Amino acid sequence: MRPASYLLIAIAHLQIISFSTAADTQPVTSRVPGETAKKSDTQPVTSRVPGETAKKWCKVYQKSCPIQVGKSDGNQAYPGEFPHMAAIGYGEESGIKWHCGGALISEKFVLSAAHCSNSPSVGPPKWVLLGAVFLINTTATDGSKGQIHPIMRIIRHPEYKAPANYNDIVLFEIGPAITPNPRPLNSKELHPACLSENRTLPGKQALATGWGRVEYFGDTSPNLLIKHLQILELSVCEEAFKHITKKTLSMGFVPSMLCAGVLPGKRDTCQGDGGAPLHSFLMNECTYEVWGVTSFGSVCGDPKKPSVYTKVFAYISWIEDIVWPA
Ligand SMILES: *[C@@H]1O[C@H](CO)[C@@H](O)[C@H](O)[C@H]1NC(C)=O
Ligand SMILES: *[C@@H]1O[C@H](CO)[C@@H](O)[C@H](O)[C@H]1NC(C)=O
Repeated sequence: MRPASYLLIAIAHLQIISFSTAADTQPVTSRVPGETAKKSDTQPVTSRVPGETAKKWCKVYQKSCPIQVGKSDGNQAYPGEFPHMAAIGYGEESGIKWHCGGALISEKFVLSAAHCSNSPSVGPPKWVLLGAVFLINTTATDGSKGQIHPIMRIIRHPEYKAPANYNDIVLFEIGPAITPNPRPLNSKELHPACLSENRTLPGKQALATGWGRVEYFGDTSPNLLIKHLQILELSVCEEAFKHITKKTLSMGFVPSMLCAGVLPGKRDTCQGDGGAPLHSFLMNECTYEVWGVTSFGSVCGDPKKPSVYTKVFAYISWIEDIVWPA
């Protein structure tokens, strides 16, 4: 049994770092990839090559090859197949609601979407579920279906300003599991995914995984579903979303977004898939590489209506500075 005080400690430490807090906007987290340190900077700024640190850690994490990764040709994930897949939970421990997805990218951090960092009805997320495939009735006392970690710190991208859809990326720092018999986060069943390298993605095949709705306004799925998608040119999304409001997409589509789907429709991510990874299996390296974070879409699975993902490589330095500080 965990000590009763643990939950209180976890909540007390829950800290949300976001744009709205002036003190948090430090140059070190708002740097753009490749930008070099200016003489006037008072903050220590690293001169790391974007993506190099993530690549180094990728080599460390891939040593434990998951049991069945890359084998699924169907639409339902096997247990252990996506050892980095996370569900993001809201509400109290006795009745957690899983409304978003995420990806474990180190032994302490889960990558997700900034729009998942606050729910209008239940506030900020408090829990991360790892190692689960079925979500029905998963509670903090049911360790057999996965393990639950408290979220200790929410680090939203400093330039995410809801309701605008830009910079829709967040990091959740997690604490030790509160469920019995947790597995280490570098084991066969549970381990971090690699982050995207600087790749040209349009035309490539990718997988999106999530517990989102199976159809628009339909039921959410209790099983972790796999969607086989193609990365499309941004112009395809531009055309598909040309009627979207100025408030959410005032600058149009930008290179830090990815457009993915299947034309003509049917396969898509949907409500409840927010924050979940868009990834690809690296055959020789026995791991997944996360290319995108599920951000927004329109009517799921509609012909010519792909969805939009936050492009992970566009934020690689921001992620590296938080997850693996120099
Ligand atoms: C989920 O919990 C409810 C209430 O405890 C129960 O009635 C239901 O059968 C459970 N469903 C599953 C699939 O275990
Ligand atoms: C990414 O790759 C492109 C094309 O090879 C290159 O022009 C660009 O400088 C690279 N960016 C980074 C941050 O390495």
